[in-house]
Amino acid sequence: MFENMEALEQACMGCQQCRLAADRTNLVFGTGNPHADIMFVGEGPGQQEDLQGKPFVGPSGKLLDKMLAAIDLDRNVNIYIANMVKCRPPQNRDPRPDEEDVCIRWLREQVRLIRPKIIVCLGRVAAQRLIDPNFRVTRQHGEFILRKGVYLMGTYHPSALLRNPANKPAAFDDFLALRAKALEVDAADIDALRADLAKNPPLT
Ligand code: URA
Repeated sequence: MFENMEALEQACMGCQQCRLAADRTNLVFGTGNPHADIMFVGEGPGQQEDLQGKPFVGPSGKLLDKMLAAIDLDRNVNIYIANMVKCRPPQNRDPRPDEEDVCIRWLREQVRLIRPKIIVCLGRVAAQRLIDPNFRVTRQHGEFILRKGVYLMGTYHPSALLRNPANKPAAFDDFLALRAKALEVDAADIDALRADLAKNPPLT
């Protein structure tokens, strides 16, 4: 258990627990607002991310930033972005289950500290690990499930959209659904706050 994100990042930076550590240029811990209500989880760093130490800074990141901007989200303001594994898998292959098994402790701690209300899984790898081992992006994208008080949703990975732009409208619908869910969750928070204030009026 770590007290804050800085302490967690510091510990994560020294991680050598799986084979991916040996070849990394930089570990890619995560970026964004550690108090965000919405968290995005990708698969693992690619070449640009490995070089720069930040998630989604290559071509797929540019697309992600555009889709985020369209629904008033910004990685420097109101979301947090992390990956299933923090070090680049060779030739951008999928992370192996044993690599995910050791790395997921960092992601769990990130989620524990951020306490997001919504987690969006970008692509199959994250969705199969965090939502359902049989998750099929083509069939289940955009569906929200509530687990332990957190809404989880899986959508197309931006690199998959670059390979197959025909899926961009469907992915954009998922982002619109995300915006609607974020507003709904905010409204529920305000209602709960109002009910609490009515029950426990502040002293004047
Ligand atoms: N793809 C991912 O899943 N994560 C990144 O950070 C970059 C590309």
